[in-house]
Amino acid sequence: MPKAATLVIENDPATIRRTVLAARAAGRRVGFVPTMGALHAGHVSLVKAAADCDDVVVSIFVNPTQFGPGEDFDRYPRSLDADCRLLAEAGVRWVYAPPTEALYPPGDATRVVVDGPSRRWEGEHRPHHFQGVATVVCKLFSMVPADAAFFGAKDWQQAVVVRRMVRDLAIPIDVVVCPTVREPDGLALSSRNVYLSSNDRVRAVALSEGLASARSCWQQGGTAAEATAALAAPLARQAIDVDYAVVVDPDSLEPHPGDARSLPAIALVAGRVGPTRLIDNMLLS
Ligand code: PAF
Repeated sequence: MPKAATLVIENDPATIRRTVLAARAAGRRVGFVPTMGALHAGHVSLVKAAADCDDVVVSIFVNPTQFGPGEDFDRYPRSLDADCRLLAEAGVRWVYAPPTEALYPPGDATRVVVDGPSRRWEGEHRPHHFQGVATVVCKLFSMVPADAAFFGAKDWQQAVVVRRMVRDLAIPIDVVVCPTVREPDGLALSSRNVYLSSNDRVRAVALSEGLASARSCWQQGGTAAEATAALAAPLARQAIDVDYAVVVDPDSLEPHPGDARSLPAIALVAGRVGPTRLIDNMLLS
């Protein structure tokens, strides 16, 4: 991706759609990075992963339907100017920052439900979350008909849900899942890390520590139960209020069948560090 001369901010769905289709008709490969803004190095890594495309579009939209009652929709960090400066520096060609009515017009009545992979884990703790994610991503894919879309592995279950939706609805876009970016001490980058007090920031490292010790347990021949116990220990030491800490099949997201070591495994964790809910995961095999 050559460095774009000027970043263009579009708000209108018809214009961004026309622009992307025109670029593709001219033989350009277009990459798309959907975000909710409050961008950090994790998002920049997605833009870099899209660098084999000729042009990159980044959407910035804090999607109300993926937040539950009492969650942080109102206080979710919003920093459009700073985000655009970062994206211009990263060589992004277009930012699509639609108003809410573009995604949810008056009388909007349609939702996308991806059943199987949405049910467990995040689905149990945030009941309408994946319906909101699938709905907005489906709409964004229609407004930004790119060749490929880039998602972070930190939201592993979200990536599985999006892949399943794309397959089931035959949406013509490649879904690329990119590695999680971490702080030097292991904490996964997240827009919500800004909520952490300095004490909670120290405690939050227990998530990545637990995942790393689950992985080393697994790699030394431990069973799924032993890896789960290794994951749980640092969380307990830091008194993290755990929603789930599990070892599952990375595709079905069903609990991993014990010591069947030939099958791939991933550890998923979610918990509250003080008032801040964080999620993380690590492939074990
Ligand atoms: O991962 C996110 O930032 C959001 O869930 C997404 C995919 C942009 C949908 O709002």
